[in-house]
Amino acid sequence: MTNVRNTILVTGGAGFIGSNFVLQWIRNCSDAVVNLDLLTYAGNPDNLAAIEDDSRHKLVRGDICDAELVAALLREHRPKFIVHFAAESHVDRSIVDPGAFIRTNVQGTFTLLEQARLYWSELDEAGRKEFRFLHISTDEVYGTLGPDDPAFSEISAYAPNSPYAASKAASDHLARAYFHTYGLPVLTTNCSNNYGPFQFPEKLIPLVILNALEGKPLPVYGDGCNVRDWLFVEDHCSAICAVLDRGRVGETYNIGGNSERKNLDVVTAICDLVDDLRPDTALGPRSKLITFVADRPGHDRRYAIDATKISRELGWRPDEEFISGLRKTVAWYLDHGSWVQSVRTGAYRDWIRKNYEERLPQ
Ligand code: NAD
Ligand code: DAU
Repeated sequence: MTNVRNTILVTGGAGFIGSNFVLQWIRNCSDAVVNLDLLTYAGNPDNLAAIEDDSRHKLVRGDICDAELVAALLREHRPKFIVHFAAESHVDRSIVDPGAFIRTNVQGTFTLLEQARLYWSELDEAGRKEFRFLHISTDEVYGTLGPDDPAFSEISAYAPNSPYAASKAASDHLARAYFHTYGLPVLTTNCSNNYGPFQFPEKLIPLVILNALEGKPLPVYGDGCNVRDWLFVEDHCSAICAVLDRGRVGETYNIGGNSERKNLDVVTAICDLVDDLRPDTALGPRSKLITFVADRPGHDRRYAIDATKISRELGWRPDEEFISGLRKTVAWYLDHGSWVQSVRTGAYRDWIRKNYEERLPQ
């Protein structure tokens, strides 16, 4: 008899990717979800409104740095998996306030790993075998690529360039060490840029959708030729399920959309979609709103993911094409005006002022 239950502990499940994951999990699986989230500016219980009456989901407001709380949740709910999304996630904020990133991303991940180790070591043999700690990470840990460099693979060297990337790299190293030293069944995923519903409008895609809709300037850092690989968030969630189900413990898996795009091309595509879905003849084409602004310090030039390993070993592939996913995303933001209003609080407006007011047009 195993002494884990059919329950998973998700951290950061009220944020962008975490909430999409929890919604998908509750839709597709019978297991319950305990969702530990501090509800920072980026966490929003409204993201989970569709499951508010579902007794299988329990949202606990709390901090992953709180070892006693984490231990109590593990004791009470006896999860079979921990899926760890909670993080400070915005590169620009990490440049302004790196300390918050060290606290949550490094100290918080350490606290979770340590409490998971203590919990796991007391399970019976079957429980220990079934248990998984899935650490969700990013392609930014690998640094930046030149135009002709091969995409990042699982054996690319770590070379983080922003305080955010460095804090995630540190957390990846801790996750790795807990597998190698203690045998804790840890897996790590490193994913490229996600987009889709419920993304906080500090990130490029939702920010540009909303500014385009409202006829505001569309801020493009530097020359707009930085390249990102884009993955629709539901595809990231299905990859995480594949890793939980079939991933080999101790391994890392790179996840990507095979959709490299220059930022300027992404912004132009959004303009075209907003023009199409909400034409405004007085305003004219939204691409007129594109404004080049001061670059992000240390801005990585290019990210690209080689997702061969997860495809070959686990049979995972993304379902969504970039343009169809972007169209769904634009339509979602246009249809969810009250969600948008609820997240654009005073603190959000302060951040927008702080980040953009001093980026004088080039
Ligand atoms: P997000 O900022 O939208 O959400 C983060 C969530 O974590 C929020 O709900 C927030 O309230 C919660 N949180 C923050 N600090 C906490 C703490 N101390 N204790 C408990 N909860 C806390 O982030 P996201 O974009 O959904 O990213 C989720 C994870 O995926 C992160 O680990 C990020 O590094 C990783 N990731 C993100 C992307 C992307 O494109 N967004 C790509 C690859 C990997
Ligand atoms: O690569 C994965 C990472 O993707 C995740 O780990 C991070 O959590 C996530 O925030 C994202 O990081 P980026 O820095 O790539 O995302 P962001 O949306 O902030 O920026 C995307 C690109 O657009 C980047 O090159 C910077 C640029 N940009 C961004 C903003 C907010 C602009 O040109 N203008 C902007 O106003």
